[in-house]
Amino acid sequence: MSDERRKIMRVLSGETLTPPPLWLMRQAGRYLPEYRETRARAGSFLDLCYTPDHAVEVTMQPIRRYGFDAAILFSDILVIPDALKRNVRFTEGHGPQMDPIDEAGILALKPDGAIAYLEPVMETVRRLRRDLPDETTLLGFCGAPWTVATYMIAGHGTPDQAPARLFAYRHPKAFEHLLMLLADISADYLVAQIDAGADAVQIFDSWAGVLGEREFDAFAVTPVARMIASVKARRPQARIIAFAKGAGYLLKNYRRKTGADAIGLDWSVPLAFAVELQKDGPVQGNLDPMRVVAGGKALEDGIDDILQQLGNGPLIFNLGHGITPQADPANVARLVERVRGWRK
Ligand code: CP3
Repeated sequence: MSDERRKIMRVLSGETLTPPPLWLMRQAGRYLPEYRETRARAGSFLDLCYTPDHAVEVTMQPIRRYGFDAAILFSDILVIPDALKRNVRFTEGHGPQMDPIDEAGILALKPDGAIAYLEPVMETVRRLRRDLPDETTLLGFCGAPWTVATYMIAGHGTPDQAPARLFAYRHPKAFEHLLMLLADISADYLVAQIDAGADAVQIFDSWAGVLGEREFDAFAVTPVARMIASVKARRPQARIIAFAKGAGYLLKNYRRKTGADAIGLDWSVPLAFAVELQKDGPVQGNLDPMRVVAGGKALEDGIDDILQQLGNGPLIFNLGHGITPQADPANVARLVERVRGWRK
């Protein structure tokens, strides 16, 4: 059926398209006045995530405005700890907060019922697939176990995830139990999103960059490989993008070791290295979000470098991390126009 028309699905199967298809991480968000308007009406951030009317609306907003090739489900990676009853809340100006978990708390975690609790998310996915243009890929997502665990252990965001790194050294058994529990529930969650209509899914390991070599293997590669094997065993057609932000040289074997179809690249990945990674399959990225804030020549040069160096292979054009609230929506329009106008 529609894989023929959905350009991102074609690239995920290894095709090179000119110009490359594009979407932007965090494309629904505070830089858009229409998002801020819906957000104010929704009440809390989690109400926005769990009310299909609102979640569908904010997912569609950037598609209407820019015609991106993919819509990404509007939700958050922290709905998993919320479904595990960790009292997650998003307070204005403080970012996410939840009850910090300890060894006893980890052993007491009960994943039963968590996927049923997330049924409003699946309803959002079903409605989106019905409402989106046929050519638009619908992406589901979840956080990688390591990144979700960092918030569960600290109880909030930190600059370097020191609390989770320390916990992992001090309590290796409990920590491994937490990662594996998160891997299994997250795999079930991705399967549910795929069954509800997601064409492909992305796994966000936003904090992979703070891990040493040995820990990257144990905390970032092993749990993500377990998730991908579990999803693909049940849904062999599933296409999966894995984004290990800040992993640098450790990305070298990441695709092969995890079984991901495509790998996301942050802006610190040198384009010559990205070309090497692209020889093994599709890559996604990697414009610095600050170039979208700056606009002008900074924006144009950044886009052109990526297109020139990665445009000859399977590429999904994207940012190297989420778009920030300061970005001017007019610069996003310029970005879309420049990528779409590119010819070899
Ligand atoms: O458009 C999209 O990309 C889909 C929606 C999406 C959100 N969060 C919405 C959101 C996605 C894919 C995420 C992923 C996410 N959430 C990650 C991984 C990607 C990344 O950015 O590193 C992480 C680490 C989180 C956790 C999280 N959620 C944080 C740290 C914050 C606060 C920081 C901030 O920007 O305020 C959130 C809140 C959040 N998630 C917002 C949005 C649009 C802003 C909240 C608001 O509108 O008040």
